[in-house]
Amino acid sequence: MHYMVGKPLSDIETPALVLDADLLEHNIEKMAAFARNQGVNLRPHAKTHKCAMLAHLQIKAGAIGITCAKLSEAEAMAHAGIRDILIANQVVAPEKIERLVGLSRYSDVKVAVDNPDNARTISEAAQRRGQVIKVLIERDIGMGRCGTRNLEETLRLADMIVKLPGLEMAGLMGYEGHTVFLTPFREKEEQCLKAIGVLVETKEALNSAGFKTEIVSSGGTGTYNITGLNKNITELQVGSYSTMDLKYREVGLDFHLALTVLGTVISRPDRQTVILDVGMKGITREFGLPVAKGLEGATVRALPEEHCILELSAGNTSPAVGDRVELYPTHGCTTFNLYDNIHVCRGGIVEAVWPVTARGAMH
Ligand SMILES: Cc1ncc(COP(=O)(O)O)c(C=O)c1O
Repeated sequence: MHYMVGKPLSDIETPALVLDADLLEHNIEKMAAFARNQGVNLRPHAKTHKCAMLAHLQIKAGAIGITCAKLSEAEAMAHAGIRDILIANQVVAPEKIERLVGLSRYSDVKVAVDNPDNARTISEAAQRRGQVIKVLIERDIGMGRCGTRNLEETLRLADMIVKLPGLEMAGLMGYEGHTVFLTPFREKEEQCLKAIGVLVETKEALNSAGFKTEIVSSGGTGTYNITGLNKNITELQVGSYSTMDLKYREVGLDFHLALTVLGTVISRPDRQTVILDVGMKGITREFGLPVAKGLEGATVRALPEEHCILELSAGNTSPAVGDRVELYPTHGCTTFNLYDNIHVCRGGIVEAVWPVTARGAMH
């Protein structure tokens, strides 16, 4: 793959994942500047890109560390030299807890908990290995996924955590994922503030009861400029902003679309139809069909396994068989994981090839 460096986009073997370096850098700096100006820490969610090099760029721009969705993702990032990692998810199976404790020797890893049995199992494993694991209580703030469901349960869990040897209560996390795509902005703001209100209320109740919450983490790309304004929030765990996608563009987020999937035209069966060599195995259709970059009026009609069927607007005759076409994905997170490598381009020339370090790391 590295033999591609210095070559034009048109020489890349397709399907291929492509990142525009200028746009990526713009996005990274825009979020970093927001965090700096607001005095909130940035801990980007690396599940979006699963790429250690990109995580290093985010840290270079000021992020304090990264967030991961899975233990194996955290392991891959730690192996790539990233120290400060929050696993914003539950690690429950005994063998995984052993790995978590092992990882804590080599990195500053923190993990979310929402369950007393899980806290006890982590405590026992940590004690056996003479380690202390930092935990954040996850509070459900309206999404209905993981997280404690009420204050009483949260306080009980905190009381247990501070008493268990081998655990350190590092703080609190929530995720207002049910609000990130809401429109118009006023509706999103209202729902997001409601969700963050639950987190703040939980933090205050914990503090009043004598429990420390050094970290209070929340936030998605769709809500960074609402959640990030609340002075109780110490960290933002935003993910998609660095590379962006069509779904976030559709709801008005003004980061640049830095990520595309490059395909080649393999057939022009009639004047209006273009067939590309990239289907749903090469680009997500999670939030709908992709859009072709720079092809005015063209519409993706279907995305079977290995083909993209594009319909051109009347009068349009290009592209021809063999030409390259870039597609914008509707969701970056479920597209990155389809590739081993990212072709990083500047001005249409491949500048670097970065491995998708934690590709497939879902264990
Ligand atoms: C726990 C958690 N935190 C943060 C995010 C941030 O995501 P994004 O910025 O891509 O919306 C996600 C996305 O799913 C998530 O699950």
